[in-house]
Amino acid sequence: MEIKKTNTIKSSIKTHDHPYLKDAWIPNYDEYEVNDLKALGDIPKDLEGAYYRNTENQVHEPIGRFHPFDGDAMIHSINFDNGKANYVNKFVKTEGFLVEQEMGKSMWAGLMERTGSSKLPGWGAQGGIKDSSSTDIIVHAGEPLTTFYQCGEGYQLNPYSLDTKQKASWVPVGGVSAHPKVDLSTGELLFFNYSKQSPYLNYGVVDKNQNLKHFVPIELPGPRLPHDMAYSKNYSIINDLPLFWDQEMLKKGIHATRLHDLPSRFAVIPRYGNPEDIKWFEADPTYVLHWNNAYEMGDELILEGYFQEHPWPENYVDAPPGLERMMAFLDFSLLKPRLHRWKFNLKTGATTEEDICNETIEFGVINQRIAGLEHKYTYSMVPTKGHFTFDGITKHDHQKKSFTKYIFPEHIFISEVSFAPKTNGIDEDDGYLVTISNDVREKSSSCLLFDAKNIEQGPVCDIPLPHQICSGTHATWAQKSDLKS
Ligand SMILES: [Fe+2]
Repeated sequence: MEIKKTNTIKSSIKTHDHPYLKDAWIPNYDEYEVNDLKALGDIPKDLEGAYYRNTENQVHEPIGRFHPFDGDAMIHSINFDNGKANYVNKFVKTEGFLVEQEMGKSMWAGLMERTGSSKLPGWGAQGGIKDSSSTDIIVHAGEPLTTFYQCGEGYQLNPYSLDTKQKASWVPVGGVSAHPKVDLSTGELLFFNYSKQSPYLNYGVVDKNQNLKHFVPIELPGPRLPHDMAYSKNYSIINDLPLFWDQEMLKKGIHATRLHDLPSRFAVIPRYGNPEDIKWFEADPTYVLHWNNAYEMGDELILEGYFQEHPWPENYVDAPPGLERMMAFLDFSLLKPRLHRWKFNLKTGATTEEDICNETIEFGVINQRIAGLEHKYTYSMVPTKGHFTFDGITKHDHQKKSFTKYIFPEHIFISEVSFAPKTNGIDEDDGYLVTISNDVREKSSSCLLFDAKNIEQGPVCDIPLPHQICSGTHATWAQKSDLKS
């Protein structure tokens, strides 16, 4: 094993007492390459591909109040092949990152400040903030693509070196939101973007060769804040939920979210459908950050995600002054999301919905090989009370209507898991859950593998990494066969 520090980027940060700039959220500035990582336990030979983790790293002293989603994207990858694993981490060299490196300071204010506080024109639906590309990472057309929740450019990376190659050429004016979806059965990428201008939302399809094949408006009654979308074999599902910017405050340039007295609405559109093909469905008011899957059964389209009981929480008690709202919206124990299903009857237009479980969980994954079709298993993250980190994993078995759970000791947090299928796997859960731990007591991180068939036994392999890795939001897995060589 050879640990090579390949680069340290210039940082000018002095703030250390912010709750999201310490402990599990200490930013990383060093870039490493490690070949042939030493593991505690054998690295499975039936694991071929890469786990990519996007993280949030504030590089310079923030302009005004800092929100953890303002941090610059650093990608960490662990690449598995024939019982060996390599590690690489690198910043995504976004336009904003490069300008701030050049200037040696922050040029853009973050999510919590007025858009006019930035020193340069910015990006995003809110406007005027930096496209840090630090929200999600997916793999499309053989290459990792990083995205930004406020709608940004989409940056393509070399799958092995993680060098930033270019902005994705298909991304329309108005950008791409955090969660484009790749249908592995066709290689298509489905996405939406949203903005403060009519029609407020657009939906698109990109083919496996990165050509934008379809792009249509989905007209909404006003600016909305959708975070994720879902798809089944034949349909895409876009949401219009009642948590969005207060219109009166917006006139004063303040982006404050409020829960409105409106139902949840869902636009169901055929994959290549036009606005006139959209079927709208209504459901109980809530906010949903993430959807796990959708599938068709008879006349019904079934959607699984996390229904928030309190999408507009009370202020966070004991937050530092000015951070009460931010900390409340980052505390899942206040939002109380629970695993939920919506059933849209495509014939009658009726919606029925039900809770699957009362546990507070979010950030779900399934075996992506069967996305768009009925799934048997959902893996979810168990959030930390009071803080935007994760303590454990649950696995729901939808046939047995049961779930299992694994919880880490108090000082260990983990990144969003991805499901990595075994190379010769047959069952839906023949695979591994891959994650990166963040041990705040030991100040260290490991890549951990769980046997997806039995998560309760804990990690089956622990691969120590050369440094403690900052928290972030999303991660993904790609099979070796789906990566450009
Ligand atoms: Fe997300």
